[in-house]
Amino acid sequence: MTSATETTPLLLLDEPTRASLWTTLVSEIERYLQSVDELPVSPALDAPAIRAFAESFTFEHPLPPTETLRSIAAQLTRYQVHTPHPSYYGLFNPASTTMSIAADALVAALNPQLAAWSHSPLASEMELHLVRSLAEKFGIPRDQADGVFTSGGAEANHTALLTALFHRWPQLAGAGLRSLDQQPVFYVSAEGHHSFLKAAKASGLGADSLREIEVDSSLRMRPDALRAALERDRAHGLAPFLVIATAGTTGAGAIDPIPDIGRAARDHNLWFHVDAAWGGAAVLVPELRPLLNGTEQADSVTFDAHKFLSISMGAGIYLTRHPDVLTRTFGTLTAYMPREGERLQAVDPFSHSMQWSRRFTGLKLFLSLAVAGWEGYAVTIRHQTAMGDLLRTQLADRGWKIVNDTPLPLVCFTDAAHSWDLAQCQRVANAVIESGQAWISTIQVGREKQPALRACITSYRTEPRHIETLLSALDQARSAAENPVV
Ligand SMILES: Cc1ncc(COP(=O)(O)O)c(C=O)c1O
Repeated sequence: MTSATETTPLLLLDEPTRASLWTTLVSEIERYLQSVDELPVSPALDAPAIRAFAESFTFEHPLPPTETLRSIAAQLTRYQVHTPHPSYYGLFNPASTTMSIAADALVAALNPQLAAWSHSPLASEMELHLVRSLAEKFGIPRDQADGVFTSGGAEANHTALLTALFHRWPQLAGAGLRSLDQQPVFYVSAEGHHSFLKAAKASGLGADSLREIEVDSSLRMRPDALRAALERDRAHGLAPFLVIATAGTTGAGAIDPIPDIGRAARDHNLWFHVDAAWGGAAVLVPELRPLLNGTEQADSVTFDAHKFLSISMGAGIYLTRHPDVLTRTFGTLTAYMPREGERLQAVDPFSHSMQWSRRFTGLKLFLSLAVAGWEGYAVTIRHQTAMGDLLRTQLADRGWKIVNDTPLPLVCFTDAAHSWDLAQCQRVANAVIESGQAWISTIQVGREKQPALRACITSYRTEPRHIETLLSALDQARSAAENPVV
């Protein structure tokens, strides 16, 4: 039999080795933070070399910790799209706050278990305080507010779908979907996030239960089309149960007419969810707050701290005004879980969440907010919004046509003089990416599927000089695309 003195050294490592490891870790992180904007934003996708590096680890022999960490850090730096780069104009993936990085490390060391309240009472209460504070910002009264940290927006949206179902049909907890004599259906804009499609499939409702509602020329859900779909489905004997408004669509940053959609949901007595995964950050900035008006009517809200709040991944949040609905949806009693929470009238997080064992996700937001404050975040979000406005104006000045309409910092655009197809847009995006100077993507906008380029300000470190770099990379890519070398 082996003893702990034999096995521990390989896992805990001895003190001098740990000291060297921590020093290396901190210097690797600091070096990255200081030099990320000098790196090419994206790597060469050399799949064989990447796979060969991963597979070079056979795990047959112990390796020296510090050198191994250093080597992996170098290769990870080489082989990733640098989402923390100020010239990453991508898919809502932020540059992490420094307090998130510290929180992630601290959480890994203390390893609090957020399943039973009594195992991590302070961590649980810190998350609850965040949930209530954020809910208040969205207009949900603090004394009614409840919620849970999730892995991301997809889990929060899935949670919304499940809570809406259990709220409407409590018998689902026992008898399941087969107890329903009508097909449940739910509604999201045609520009809504596809996590709802996933949730429809994974919940057993099926993709056919999802109704994608037409959008107007600004890519906002049409409330008249929503009302017509609700009437039509009811007339056909279907059972609408959930209506979703999106505050900041993934493709083009559109904000649905939240009050009108909420009114339609209320008139039909349906659960009203607002997917504010990205755009929800507007509630923290007084002059942007009106964009989210109507959210105070929501039964639930999705908000991702790992998007506009620059928290390291993953940090999603599901908020609700129904304090009992999470327990009704996820509550499970077992003999093996600690029960002190019940005696102390505290909620055990595992009975509130799709997850069981859960990481202390909230700490990175808690620490970031504690240090920056609401005002610090307002300043940052305002800055990113101003960078979006700058990009929009400069693009228009340089012969690009803006094809989306949002006050948020997400710009979809194409060449103003020529009508580009998707392949042409992709060639230009690829040229920008290959230049290493910036990362942008392509998109097909709206019902007409208008091909366009897409650039979103996702980093709080993006400054006018980075916008200038993007613009000149775009100009070069455009002239190369228009004058190909034959
Ligand atoms: C509007 C919206 N909802 C939900 C999601 C899913 O979030 P996550 O990737 O954090 O699961 C996204 C992702 O970009 C999104 O843009």
